[in-house]
Amino acid sequence: MARAVCPGSFDPITRGHLDVIGRAARQFDEVLVAVGRNAGKRGLFDIDERVAMVAEACADWPTVRVEAFDGLLAEFCAARDASCVVKGVRSAADYDYELPMARMNARLTGVETLFLPAAPEWSFVSSSLVREVAALGGDVTPYLTPAVAAALADRLADRHGDRDTPGGG
Ligand code: PNS
Repeated sequence: MARAVCPGSFDPITRGHLDVIGRAARQFDEVLVAVGRNAGKRGLFDIDERVAMVAEACADWPTVRVEAFDGLLAEFCAARDASCVVKGVRSAADYDYELPMARMNARLTGVETLFLPAAPEWSFVSSSLVREVAALGGDVTPYLTPAVAAALADRLADRHGDRDTPGGG
């Protein structure tokens, strides 16, 4: 059984991520979406929320599973018997960022990395840009599933409420 891992922070998952996961699912028997805990980054959504959003967004794909992970991605892949990491690449900058990690992961455990070119319609979409545009009142619904767009709107409204509350930071 050929199993691939699609790793990411997915804070939140976008249609660009889903395009890559769906394409990976057509090439592998099973795809494991690995949601990183990202100790360094202060996320908008916590790990359980991100896993739930990814699971809901991928629910129609029977061969796609979702799991949280921390520690080394290469070790996670080895422990799950996944021979391959699949990552979407939007630009040369993405490739430059991903290449050393792909090589390091290969050295660590032998796991391969396959890069999928992002579909043109999603090639400018990132979770960070979606968060920023949404926080400033822009429409990000084209880039998210309806459930994720609703969760993002709710979270930003909560944060706004906190800010407007005396002592809310
Ligand atoms: O695309 P993203 O969202 O920035 O990806 C984040 C993630 C979790 C996939 C990445 O930070 C990662 O691979 N973390 C695992 C830690 C690790 O293995 N570091 C060494 C890389 S060679």
